[in-house]
Amino acid sequence: MQANTRAAIPAAVNRTSLLGSQLDTFAFIIHPIDPKRDVSRKYPFLGRILNERQIDFFSTFFPPVYISEIEGITSQATGKEVKGWFIACPYTPRRMMELPERTVYRKIIETGHAAERLGAQILGLGAFTSVVGDAGVTIARALELPVTTGDSYTVAIAVQAIREAARVMDISLRDATAAVVGATGSIGRVCAELLAEDVAELILVGRREDALEELRSSLQGKARAVLRTSTRMDDIAEAQLILTVTSAVHEVIHPGHLRPGSVVCDVARPRDVSAMVAAVRNDILVIDGGMVDVPGPVDFHFNFGFPPGKAYACMAETITLALEGRFEDYTLGKDLSRQRVDEIATLAAKHGFRLSGFRSFEREVTEEQIETVRRRARESRRSR
Ligand SMILES: NC(=O)c1ccc[n+]([C@@H]2O[C@H](COP(=O)([O-])OP(=O)(O)OC[C@H]3O[C@@H](n4cnc5c(N)ncnc54)[C@H](OP(=O)(O)O)[C@@H]3O)[C@@H](O)[C@H]2O)c1
Repeated sequence: MQANTRAAIPAAVNRTSLLGSQLDTFAFIIHPIDPKRDVSRKYPFLGRILNERQIDFFSTFFPPVYISEIEGITSQATGKEVKGWFIACPYTPRRMMELPERTVYRKIIETGHAAERLGAQILGLGAFTSVVGDAGVTIARALELPVTTGDSYTVAIAVQAIREAARVMDISLRDATAAVVGATGSIGRVCAELLAEDVAELILVGRREDALEELRSSLQGKARAVLRTSTRMDDIAEAQLILTVTSAVHEVIHPGHLRPGSVVCDVARPRDVSAMVAAVRNDILVIDGGMVDVPGPVDFHFNFGFPPGKAYACMAETITLALEGRFEDYTLGKDLSRQRVDEIATLAAKHGFRLSGFRSFEREVTEEQIETVRRRARESRRSR
């Protein structure tokens, strides 16, 4: 069975009318992460009748899906407005891990071609479309338009979020023990490098001892922190601050892994932290990593799970490049550059992107929750 592989683009959205509008443009690829929930957002009926495995199976034959037009994004620095589109690659994370790499590339490239037909001038790769294989290099080579994974700004915002959470929770960064889970990954590696400049002790957590040791040696000279490596998730119980960013397709952090009063910034999509943590541990603050406020009266015309006016940092990187008129491949490959992380953070701030207030499992974190966690942390310190 082979479906028509071209995304059906509504007639109202055509290149000629866009060229007439004179706005610079971008497109961003999204994909279902929680299969039933995300498919229901576009196709309520299918989301209701299909189970996860069926969605996984049928996604193989589905063409890229045009989702929506994005309008209203306006730079605070220059007043420039840009226009964009969401286009969905139908694969779930599990499907992207199961299928041969070249099959997954093919589908993402088809999705990129849909962006080209819309007239997008730059393309961002969301969630697992940036994780798979060589992190965008092969995809960029096959497309006419420039591509970015958005990982540079994701690093910048994840580290800003954990620093801000430490401040709010009265955790002294200089004295803290932190952990980065997925430290050997593209995003985790640079997050570890940045946090190693802030904290007293940093635990690099991953699955491969040799890769962790290599990372530790590469950071050794420049780190303020004492660096340790671990392949045991139980060791994160020693940390007050945890930044987690694995590409696991299932949760890897459970309630028993965490100490009272700790903060976990979960950047991974799908999430690394089990929803059970929120359900049974009111002494831990779990925050969603990577959420930013978007400048201008933005309307995404699609609910991707955030409140109005907010976006993922990886989307914001793509939009920043469009606002800046930088139509070039930006973040590609598994080796992120620290210089690009700093540069995109400066450019995004200039155009008006800001770290958003804290959210946890798609809900706003209240002052009361923060106070409860602070109190439990004090109690646990006193009882030791
Ligand atoms: N919030 C946002 O705005 C945003 C933006 C971009 C990406 N992301 C998310 O960030 C995550 C990581 O992306 P990336 O590009 O850094 O991926 P990556 O380069 O593939 O690195 C993933 C890391 O996760 C580890 N890992 C994989 N499966 C694991 C498991 N079952 N248990 C423990 N560790 C595991 C890998 O360890 P090994 O070396 O042992 O394989 C590796 O260190 C993804 O979930 C992605 O969707 C979020």
